Parts: sequence; structure tokens; C-alpha cells
Amino acid sequence: MIIAIDGPAASGKGTLGKRIAGHLGLPHLDTGLLYRAVGAHCLASGTLDDIAASAEAARALDVSALDPESLRTGALGEAASVVAARPEVRAALVDLQRRFAAQPGGAVLDGRDIGTVICPDATVKLFVTASPEVRADRRFRELAARDPLASYEAVLADIHKRDARDSNRAAAPLLKADDAVLLDTSALGIEETFAAALAIIEAARARAG
Ligand code: C5P
Repeated sequence: MIIAIDGPAASGKGTLGKRIAGHLGLPHLDTGLLYRAVGAHCLASGTLDDIAASAEAARALDVSALDPESLRTGALGEAASVVAARPEVRAALVDLQRRFAAQPGGAVLDGRDIGTVICPDATVKLFVTASPEVRADRRFRELAARDPLASYEAVLADIHKRDARDSNRAAAPLLKADDAVLLDTSALGIEETFAAALAIIEAARARAG
């Protein structure tokens, strides 16, 4: 069973994906980490503006060496969305994601284009979203726990900027697949979101036989 979870920045899709994968005993890939790792490599080598260098970094990516903790910063989210807008970078990461999805028993993948491009035949597709303000508030709380200088306004501005770049790019824009189920978590907590997602998955599983 392949479960595709897409949605905008800070929509909670990563937390949800991890939780669902744990519950169902499936491997989970947060595909945002791939783009963040490419962005981190380009920032460190001063090649963020270099399309060929970013595509090369994507081809050379070692998935086993990804460190989620160090990659989940606001600056790397921004760098990720810059490199993710390049078709050359996206193309270099397609096979890796499809191989992950094709594991026996299935997998859970979350990102922006899983239901539309990477796994168009996924058993279940969820499009998880929430208002920009709710997403900014959640992200701000996470950051403020680590950084006393974190600012809600800066986080909200970053979310608006990333939403615009991810939605308006030509290559695999952030888009709900026609057959994805919309899950708006603006008024839902983590437990309620998990319960709603599980109900959608069970219904899809029953339909698929
Ligand atoms: O989900 P996360 O915030 O970690 O993603 C970082 C950036 O990577 C996104 O803003 C988006 O530009 C890009 N991304 C993407 N396609 C994916 C996952 C992430 O374009 N499947």
C-alpha cells in the first residue's frame, strides 16, 4: 500500500506521515529532506544560483546520510524551495523516491508532488493543508522552543513566500491531485488529524479490496 501525503509548508504532513507509517508498520520518506539536503549542499558550496551544480548535488545525494534535525531550519526550507523549482533537480530525485515507494508492503511518502508526479497510482492520496496563519503559528512554536529570537511575523512571511514559489513554479507545482482527499487541519489537533487520516486510509483500503 502506497500512501501519498502532499501539502504546503508546515501543514503537519511530515508529523502525520511519520505517525501513519509507525501505525501501519510502513517505511516513511519525508521528501522535503531531499530538497533541503540539496539546498544545504549548495549553500555550503556557494552554488545556490548554479543549476548544473544543484542537479549534480541531487544526483550525488546519499539518502542514508540525511540528518533531519540539522536540515529542518527556516533557511534550508528557503534554499530547498529555490533548488526544488528546477526541473533538473527534480528529475534527479524521481527514481530514488519511486524506488522507496516500491518497497514490498508499500511506503508512506510526504511532499508536494507525491500524488501528482512521483506516485500517481498511490493507494491513498491525502492533501493536508491549513491556513497560512495556523501553519505559521505551529512552526513559530517549534522554533521558539529552540530560538528565543524567533519571530511569528518572519515565519508567516516565509510561509507566504514558499507557498507562492511552490505553487507557481512550472515544474511539479504544489497541487492537490484530482483523486486526493483534502484534509484541512486548521481546526484540528495532531490526534484528530491522525484519526481523520486513518479513517480515509481504511476507507481506501476497503475500496481497494
Ligand atoms: O516539506 P519541506 O518544508 O521540508 O520542503 C522544503 C521545500 O522542498 C518545499 O518548500 C518545496 O519547495 C520542496 N519540496 C518539493 N517537493 C517535495 C518536497 C519538498 O518541491 N516533494
